[in-house]
Amino acid sequence: MSARRAIIAGTGSALPRTRVSNAELSDRVDTSDEWITDRTGIKFRHIAQPDETTATLGAAAAAKALEAAGMDAGEIDLIILATATPDNTFPASATKIQRLLGIRGCAAFDVAAVCSGFLYALSVAESMIRAGSASKALVIGSETFSRILDWEDRTTCVLFGDGAGALVLKAEDGDRGILATKLHADGEYDDMLFVDGGPSTTGTVGKLRMKGREVFRHAVVNLAEVMTETLNLAGVHADDVDWVVPHQANARIIDATVRKLGLPAEKVVVTVDQHANTSAASVPLALDVAVKDGRIKHGDLIVLEAMGGGFTWGAAVIRF
Ligand code: UT7
Repeated sequence: MSARRAIIAGTGSALPRTRVSNAELSDRVDTSDEWITDRTGIKFRHIAQPDETTATLGAAAAAKALEAAGMDAGEIDLIILATATPDNTFPASATKIQRLLGIRGCAAFDVAAVCSGFLYALSVAESMIRAGSASKALVIGSETFSRILDWEDRTTCVLFGDGAGALVLKAEDGDRGILATKLHADGEYDDMLFVDGGPSTTGTVGKLRMKGREVFRHAVVNLAEVMTETLNLAGVHADDVDWVVPHQANARIIDATVRKLGLPAEKVVVTVDQHANTSAASVPLALDVAVKDGRIKHGDLIVLEAMGGGFTWGAAVIRF
């Protein structure tokens, strides 16, 4: 008997209108195109204008995913938004996205796991679909990190960008769909990558702070381990993987991680050069790029992975 699984029925993404190059950034920050390119692989990032928010970008990405799935927004019975930069402290920006999509009544909530947020949201949605409490879900990653960056701190402000990516998940019996997910967190490292404000502490929004070298070191180890763990859970081998869609933080982290698994660079989707690190949006944004340009096709075995503040990290193995 085939199992009820969550399959990806459509993908979508949205980027702010304004694209900023490293050279443009170096006019306002003490940095250079050469440093940013060498250390990170980043060339461009998109920065939201005041009328562009996490919810508007998320809704735009969701609308495109629904279109790709050939589905009406009214069919959706669950919306999960992964974000660390909600429009307001509350209500959840997922409910604003629901309103922007013109639908009412279905469950809608935010998940906060920073750069791993999309993997967390995907895992929750998949569990709810398999349990039968949802059948058609929007899983969205949307961020406006430009609003929490310290633009005086060159060690962080050059690394991030704004954007959104979305998936429609649908219940289906068969072999396609999410085969396994695995999530981890370790609060011991909560001072490595954090925002120095919040409603219950300073009463302010705060700015992003990061010990970049430490995050880098942990990222490579944790990501390689969780990918291996998730491939094992899915009962597949690294050699069977068609595409890795990694969190887009740094080209050097991506290279080092896939090398540890013995995977060739040609099987890795890289968009960090175009989008920089868009936190929870980075994985669905990269996935949409590779689906739309025809690289990822139905039947392909794909691995998603991400690591972020907390620390949190996770992976998913999917038969697309
Ligand atoms: O999603 C998860 C979140 N974040 C990440 O995954 C980021 C993980 N970390 C990284 O990607 C890297 O650690 C960075 C890209 C942040 C930094 O690269 P690094 O090779 O670890 O550089 P570093 O921090 O060791 O800094 C090297 C030098 C320093 O100068 P000194 O002390 O050697 O004179 C920095 O002051 O580079 C300098 N520097 C810069 N120079 C020009 C730092 N930022 C900049 C900059 N432009 N923007």
